[in-house]
Amino acid sequence: MHKIELLAKSHDRDGFDCGSEPLNLFLKQTARQHAERGISRTFVLVDKDAAPPIPVLGYFSLNICQIKSESLGSGEAKKLPRDVSGVRLGRLAVAKTCQRQGIGKALLVAAMGKFIEIFNTAGGIGLFVDAKDQDAKRYYEQFGFIPMPSNELELFLPAKTIHGALDSHP
Ligand SMILES: CC(C)(COP(=O)(O)OP(=O)(O)OC[C@H]1O[C@@H](n2cnc3c(N)ncnc32)[C@H](O)[C@@H]1OP(=O)(O)O)[C@@H](O)C(=O)NCCC(=O)NCCS
Repeated sequence: MHKIELLAKSHDRDGFDCGSEPLNLFLKQTARQHAERGISRTFVLVDKDAAPPIPVLGYFSLNICQIKSESLGSGEAKKLPRDVSGVRLGRLAVAKTCQRQGIGKALLVAAMGKFIEIFNTAGGIGLFVDAKDQDAKRYYEQFGFIPMPSNELELFLPAKTIHGALDSHP
């Protein structure tokens, strides 16, 4: 059984390898500092029964972001103030040995759950993500993320889609 929790000292950050060095380095060198400074929060998926140093099977990080509504296209911009807030899924990665087992999907669902908590407390129009390449873009699109007209590697998952997917009502 797996669980998702905030990144802590008990997690084996050095042992994590998702095949992308920038994503490995973020977990090893940056994630905890960013959490301490309020820049972002990182959550890890681990085995429920693992003992420290607990292997990290996957992780995601979130931060609050500001968006110019015009970057969503003129249709959306008309309905919104010029500056709106959202939540950015800054990083998502799964250990090479655990890929294609549904862990990425479980992490995305958890990120959506965190979005709902923020939505219920402070609002937010949706989840934003920067896909690192076309492969990652396709990965996010299958969960309903929409490419932004201003930059097709930046994608947006509207709050409404998240509420529908999690069956939570605003
Ligand atoms: C991309 C990543 C997060 C996916 O996580 P995962 O746990 O392997 O993916 P899941 O098991 O949840 O995949 C669910 C479905 O997504 C699709 N999928 C998986 N990886 C994909 C990829 N790289 N591109 C497109 N679709 C993909 C498949 O349809 C898969 O179902 P299938 O295995 O039945 O075919 C993971 O492969 C990873 O960490 N890669 C390296 C880092 C990275 O690219 N991160 C993206 C951030 S920009």
